[in-house]
Amino acid sequence: MNLFDIQQNEFVHRHIGPNEAEKNQMLETIGVSDLDELINKTVPGTIRMQQPLAIPAAISESDYLRQLKDVSLKNKVFRNYIGQGYFDTITPSVILRNVFENPGWYTQYTPYQAEISQGRLESLLNYQTMVADLTGLPIANASLLDEATAAAEAMTMFFNALNKDHDHVTRPKFFVDINVYPQTLDVIYTRATPLQIEVVVGDYKTAQLDELYFGALIQYPDNLGAAADYRAFIDSVHAVNAYVGVATDLLALTLLTTPGELGADAAFGSAQRFGVPLGFGGPHAAFFAVKDDFKRSIPGRIIGVSIDAQGQRALRMALQTREQHIKREKATSNICTAQALLANMAAMYAVYHGPKGLQEIATRVTLLTHTLAKQLQAKGLTLVNDHFFDTIVVTGTTIKDAAEAAGINFRYFNGNTSISLDETTTIADLNDILQLFGAGQVDAAAVSNTAINIPASLQRTSAYLTHPVFNSYHSESLMMRYLKRLENKDLSLNTSMISLGSCTMKLNAATEMIPLSWAHWSKMHPFAPKDQVGGYLQIADELGEYLSKITGFDACSLQPNSGAQGEYAGLLVIRKFHESRGEGHRNVMLIPISAHGTNPASAVMAGFKVVVVKALENGYIDVTDLKAKAAAHAKDLAGIMITYPSTYGVYEESVKEICAIIHENGGQVYMDGANMNAQVGLTAPGLIGADVCHLNLHKTFAIPHGGGGPGMGPICVAKHLAPFLPGHVFLNNGELSSAVSAAPFGSASILLISYAYIRMLGADGVKQASRYAILNANYMKTRLEKAYDILYNGVNGTCAHEFIVDLRPFKSTAGIEAEDVAKRLMDYGFHAPTLSFPVPGTIMIEPTESEDKGELDRFCDALLSIREEIRAVEEGRADKQNNVLKHAPHTQAVITADEWNRPYGRQQAAFPLEYVKANKFWPSISRVNNTHGDRNLICTCEPVSAYEEAVEA
Ligand SMILES: Cc1ncc(COP(=O)(O)O)c(C=O)c1O
Repeated sequence: MNLFDIQQNEFVHRHIGPNEAEKNQMLETIGVSDLDELINKTVPGTIRMQQPLAIPAAISESDYLRQLKDVSLKNKVFRNYIGQGYFDTITPSVILRNVFENPGWYTQYTPYQAEISQGRLESLLNYQTMVADLTGLPIANASLLDEATAAAEAMTMFFNALNKDHDHVTRPKFFVDINVYPQTLDVIYTRATPLQIEVVVGDYKTAQLDELYFGALIQYPDNLGAAADYRAFIDSVHAVNAYVGVATDLLALTLLTTPGELGADAAFGSAQRFGVPLGFGGPHAAFFAVKDDFKRSIPGRIIGVSIDAQGQRALRMALQTREQHIKREKATSNICTAQALLANMAAMYAVYHGPKGLQEIATRVTLLTHTLAKQLQAKGLTLVNDHFFDTIVVTGTTIKDAAEAAGINFRYFNGNTSISLDETTTIADLNDILQLFGAGQVDAAAVSNTAINIPASLQRTSAYLTHPVFNSYHSESLMMRYLKRLENKDLSLNTSMISLGSCTMKLNAATEMIPLSWAHWSKMHPFAPKDQVGGYLQIADELGEYLSKITGFDACSLQPNSGAQGEYAGLLVIRKFHESRGEGHRNVMLIPISAHGTNPASAVMAGFKVVVVKALENGYIDVTDLKAKAAAHAKDLAGIMITYPSTYGVYEESVKEICAIIHENGGQVYMDGANMNAQVGLTAPGLIGADVCHLNLHKTFAIPHGGGGPGMGPICVAKHLAPFLPGHVFLNNGELSSAVSAAPFGSASILLISYAYIRMLGADGVKQASRYAILNANYMKTRLEKAYDILYNGVNGTCAHEFIVDLRPFKSTAGIEAEDVAKRLMDYGFHAPTLSFPVPGTIMIEPTESEDKGELDRFCDALLSIREEIRAVEEGRADKQNNVLKHAPHTQAVITADEWNRPYGRQQAAFPLEYVKANKFWPSISRVNNTHGDRNLICTCEPVSAYEEAVEA
């Protein structure tokens, strides 16, 4: 390579941890002569990719940013008054810089390890409190994927509540008001069809529901901007014992009577306009709140309040309601990754503005809207609605060309022009709009003297956001320090490696992230005209093609907003394929016992019956069992869902045979792409024999986990399945199109991250990433296997990109459980690996290629040292209960307390190895008490008196 080629390939060495010397030392430890030998021993020859990947070569970071700037300019930044669930917003700079652009917030994992996650848990609790207060409903979750899928979740939650037995559905009908957003209706239909829910669209004013209905959906304010009083309708639905879900808008709810007060059973929508950029459709947090009756069936994650081992207040994910998908085929939702980072941004927006600030913003928006309405009416124009918050609909569309020439987008539909104002709208903007219509100009005084145009019966009188957290941090210094205080409580990738098996916590490089803040990406509305979004379309096109090449498939849909949504979308593709061949009766989906819980949950959502396939002792799929089950269900076999390499971390040689068996019996093969980091450039789902797969872009392709989201789960398919990929009502002239997400390209703005990853690594670099991921895992395995049992090696004794450490033996030898080891690792400065998945009582380690040898060694040293601590208990040198593992993690308060009566020293507790002294990370609470929290479910901020009581106790 000449110097210029070296420069173009610089990112490979920035992204991959080990340098050449380290690589050689690691290979020596493993006992192989070079990386090729290790890969040949690990990845079966029968499935190896022979050709280089047909994607572009690497490009330097600076060249990438330069080129991407040019592409961004193909997007035209117009002033958008399109609305329809997406509104321009002002992201407070203090939040932009300290959260959105801060790896201390965006690189975190989902807060399963509560002791090192109190910061984001507090922020998500703020989010839940904000949502509960604004909707007037007591229980809110910590975010869903988008408004349309939240609506579908409400529908299925109601459906399941009233139809316990899916084989004998007695209440199949769901009413949807004609004035919900079109994208919501599209997703509702997609979700309803496989479950045989009958969607009835009508006008709520004249609807007559009977006991065949299980629920209804209305929008408040609605698709036309109308703020209507739904009390009578809600009462009529309750009269037939059915439920009502209300799609709504948080900013409007600062002025409107809450859905809870109107009688709604659930309320949901998008929190986007609370400071989260448009980003051509996402990522944004959806919110979801319910009456108490639904607290056990609410989808998504819930943060709850509990206590720790010292009796102090401690937050954690509430177990009883946590993540439906853990219930596998009995789950009623498959939500796993959601939108935590964006929920945190929205919550912080509310913390920063406070109730008064939010009300001022909402009042400004609604006064501007009413002023606009009055001026247009004075000009003789007709409006569709009498009462509204931020949206008016003017009959006729005559100003479209003039508006676009002025750089302004309105929404045009049914021969009307819809105008939605937002927080960014100024008096000057308003006058520009008025000028387009030839209406009279206004000034600030005229706007301020206008009255709110919301009927008295719908004007909010109840208080909201009264908790101190929403009334304390309104100066930038206070806010900056509050954000930092929370950030400091959380272990992120900028502290140490997070070796979560199956989660692939690799580097999220700054160059990949930086463009997300550029206006030409962040300010694009997902329903802007096609000729204004050339940059996004180019990225979507190219990324779709790269992902197709990487997976060995022919077509790609970028729409699904998470891995689980990808599963669901991919299974719908299989369903439609069978239907297209007159084989719609094929409804059996085989799923190996080792599969992630979202697999069976998604299969049920897509209308399939799950049949579980056994595993052998060595972790391989039991092919005999598979053959028998495929044959037994041959007439009805829809397909199989497999993960490759398996969730046990091995490349099964039998995978091709497995695919063949399914095909012979008329099924299709779905591959869960969560472990794609062990495939890229080495093999591919298409090569192996699969028909469709999803990719977790937030794993393999460098999108950060954001503390529990965002994610992206695009699906790639073979040619015969391409016609069945999801469409979108917006791209199909208003026709329903089997959409799975609210926006046509899902959370489009974060696609840039994966695009950057592929462009900067290039064809060779992405393959090197897989090779080094395997190297790092095998190096750690070799160092640890003398002290621990490793489950499930491949035929040549190697592992894939992850491996499972068996901790079960220590339960009988020392009374030590996997959880004790996980918590003790925190004292050593590390986040625990994946705990008890896929095998209870184990940890699954996935180091990724981004960690260097030094970090891998520190982690191995920590685990080896913990092994010695366990040995001390085994040999009776340490007490079985009163030991350093059972008391882990140790907080600063515990270590520095005047009293110390433990049988081990403070140094051993807090600084067990030399390296810890140089970079001590203090867990902010002692071990969390889950049972206490589950018995006393509290999932909004408690009154301040509760904190005082906890401190006094
Ligand atoms: C094997 C596997 N499949 C599916 C998923 C679900 O992906 P997501 O969380 O993006 O919905 C995960 C998530 O960790 C996983 O590990």
